Amino acid sequence: MNDPHFNTEIGCDLSRAIEILNEGNLVAIPTETVYGLAGNGLNESSILKIFEAKNRPFFDPLILHIGNLEMLHELVSNIPESCNRLIQKFWPGPLTVILPKKDIVPDLITSGSDYVAVRMPKHELTLQLLNSISYPLAAPSANPFKYVSPTTAMHVYQQLQGKIPYILNGGDCKIGIESTIVSFMGDAVKIQRLGGIAIEEIRKELPEAILANQPEEHPVAPGQLKHHYAPGCKLIPFENILIGDNYELQNFEKIGVVLFESAQKSETESKLINKGISWNCIQWFVLSESGNSVEATQNLFSTLRKLDNEQLPWAIFRWAPEKELGLAINDRLKKAQYLPI
Ligand code: TXA
Ligand code: MG
Repeated sequence: MNDPHFNTEIGCDLSRAIEILNEGNLVAIPTETVYGLAGNGLNESSILKIFEAKNRPFFDPLILHIGNLEMLHELVSNIPESCNRLIQKFWPGPLTVILPKKDIVPDLITSGSDYVAVRMPKHELTLQLLNSISYPLAAPSANPFKYVSPTTAMHVYQQLQGKIPYILNGGDCKIGIESTIVSFMGDAVKIQRLGGIAIEEIRKELPEAILANQPEEHPVAPGQLKHHYAPGCKLIPFENILIGDNYELQNFEKIGVVLFESAQKSETESKLINKGISWNCIQWFVLSESGNSVEATQNLFSTLRKLDNEQLPWAIFRWAPEKELGLAINDRLKKAQYLPI
């Protein structure tokens, strides 16, 4: 009830964004992955506003965004050679690294951990912004906690309207899924979250990188929580439909079907019809006609939003191939899927 109410504006005015951030308020910023909800990452009251606007629990730490390597050295106490190799190859880009923090980084950013997550995004407007201010920007994805990340300025507006003063419009996000997170703790190199850089690409640079186990109760990267990305529409994997009919899908007038590629359409359609779902109930969504995983990644979150906009109560989805960016797509689909209690 006591939430501040803003008349949220959308625009491309960098100096306005800088002014608002310098005042300690929040600005949604474009990046190549997803839009972020940004505030001064060294200022506790700005950081608190981020948690509040997102309704995010304090145990979920935030990524600091930087525009140059000098800032990285201000924030972290040690950069292993292996980390340098990744940074040189992938920054600016969809890579977040977790490194030991310096005291300057508030505990609120790291949820009390001695390690901080840092990333240099690849987006011209946001890099200009980051290089015009003297502090890093804390920026989680600009969605309410547990909802799908936004990939356009309008997505941000639809969900955070009234909660923030300004959305910097940098167009549609080119990658469309969050950054890949790699931690450097002791000698271990661990991929903590699958994301915009395929695991195969990371391993070309660092063959020793392992995929971290993803505990669900106290994850190192809580983006790994089971239901993190759930849209309102109940999402069910195709194979669950084939093995059982416990969802009573036949009772609905419309059902969404999300395909990775068009080549899956005829098999999917005939098997669903065999299961008693009438073809004229089906509303099709294809992530990439030709099965291009970069294109499919870019369309994933906006497609999940469309299911909600169309008010479809149910949707059936097909998995992406289990390789390259398909692994990250499947990771997000797993977290978005409906789990009957
Ligand atoms: O692509 C991205 O990474 C986007 C854009 C806006 O940069 N940001 C993003 O932030 O996805 P967020 O807050 O939605 O997800 C960041 C993840 C969370 O799961 C968080 O737990 C993890 O990074 N994380 C952040 N700091 C961490 C830390 N110190 N140790 C472990 N995990 C951390
Ligand atoms: Mg997020």
